[in-house]
Amino acid sequence: MSGAIDLPLVRSLPSHGRDHATLLQELEALRVADADWRDGRVFSLVYDPGHAHEAFLQEAHSRYFCENGLNPMAFKSLHRMETDVVRMVGRLLHGDAETCGTMTSGGTESLLLAVKTARDRARRLHPWNHRPEMILPTTAHVALDKAADAFGVRIRRARLTADLRVDVRHVKRLINRHTVLVVASAPQYPHGVVDPVAEIGQLALKRKIPFHVDACVGGMILPFIEKLGRPVPPWDFRVPGVTSISADLHKYGYTAKGASVLLHRSKDYLQDQIFIATDWPGGVYASPTLPGTRPGGTIAAAWAGMQAMGEDGYLALARQTLAAADELRAGVRAIDGLKLLSPDDMPIVTWASGAPDVDVYAVADQLEARGWHIDRQQDPPSVHLTVMAGHERTVGAYVSDLGEAVRYVRAHPGTKSQGNAAMYGMMAKVPFRGMIKKTVRDMYLEMYGPEGGAKQGDPAPPQGLVGKLLAEHGEKIDRALDLYQRLRNRLTRRN
Ligand SMILES: Cc1ncc(COP(=O)(O)O)c(C=O)c1O
Repeated sequence: MSGAIDLPLVRSLPSHGRDHATLLQELEALRVADADWRDGRVFSLVYDPGHAHEAFLQEAHSRYFCENGLNPMAFKSLHRMETDVVRMVGRLLHGDAETCGTMTSGGTESLLLAVKTARDRARRLHPWNHRPEMILPTTAHVALDKAADAFGVRIRRARLTADLRVDVRHVKRLINRHTVLVVASAPQYPHGVVDPVAEIGQLALKRKIPFHVDACVGGMILPFIEKLGRPVPPWDFRVPGVTSISADLHKYGYTAKGASVLLHRSKDYLQDQIFIATDWPGGVYASPTLPGTRPGGTIAAAWAGMQAMGEDGYLALARQTLAAADELRAGVRAIDGLKLLSPDDMPIVTWASGAPDVDVYAVADQLEARGWHIDRQQDPPSVHLTVMAGHERTVGAYVSDLGEAVRYVRAHPGTKSQGNAAMYGMMAKVPFRGMIKKTVRDMYLEMYGPEGGAKQGDPAPPQGLVGKLLAEHGEKIDRALDLYQRLRNRLTRRN
């Protein structure tokens, strides 16, 4: 996670092809500053299936490395594998003979397609609806915001109840004649909470509105948690009213990255997912997903990887995952000054401050300094951990470092207005969200603009207005923002 890349920048194509062995060495050298997920200190981004399974996935992937899933007639192999994968997931999620769908490149594409499908269904069935809307829980994944933007669907945001599940009464109030889709998560990413899918299903059925369950995280682990005898609220096709479900294979399916499934209750819903252009000079063109070319390797790796794992393999991984998550939860509970936001029996663990002198972002900085990769969240400030099977080895060390970090922050109150803690604190609390957007855009422009990649290390801390304010008035701003937050919470009756 540290160190600098010691290789010259490549800014134009070499005039002569370079030696393979050197390039492979350089590929390894480039990793020097990467998050080191193999040692179990990263709780997101990579779902480690273990060395043997990883090697098998690579082998399966490489067998179909060149093939293209764009044309199912040209590559019948990929089409066959894709339908097998869809059936395997459909069966796991208690679909029936009518359940169908496609593979996609990941959770974001599955959600984009779920929204496009709902919008196009509404266009077909309710052509008078020129202002399509969808109802999203506050905690729904942001890929749905991307989808709203891309497909011109307005978001109606539903509040949460105290247990962080979406408030069904609010969902009910938000439904109107423009609603084309209702969404719930199983579980949502920030706190690992499963929304009240059964109740929303009733509403969706009654109002004849499509209902998508985002199980990108849960799709390939909740069925096994349930089989292990832990309580899992109803969330899959057994729930009447659920019309589509997204389930990522590259998360708890432990397959190669670039693999998710979007399932529909029946062909009647699938039909609106398919894009068809009949008048293009290049020929009649049809595609069921967003990209044109689709890598064959991810399909082959999912097909082979899921079967290699089998039910018993996934059960074993779920058992290990829950053991690690249970240990982590118990450890967090035992640390004075912290509280858990996430529920039991889920693979996601989220902790927050339980005492006024424990600043989450200051604790996060301390953990980072001890070599952990941290996922900071806001509203309320918290740290998210997606726990996986491999974390069984490391949660003990995490809990021990977390305890030390909390004690350090309590003994050094100044840490909350220093370093990353000050910046994250301000970003989370500042009411002018446009200012935050601009600051983040500037960071990305620095990363991807003409100078992109030229600088070593993390992108510079925000320059512009946020940076200046932080440098000059950090503590005062923090106090003012705390006051603002307390007033706002009192007004909105939140804690
Ligand atoms: C609940 C949920 N939905 C969707 C996504 C998006 O998945 P991806 O990053 O594969 O696009 C995520 C990613 O973490 C997620 O947690």
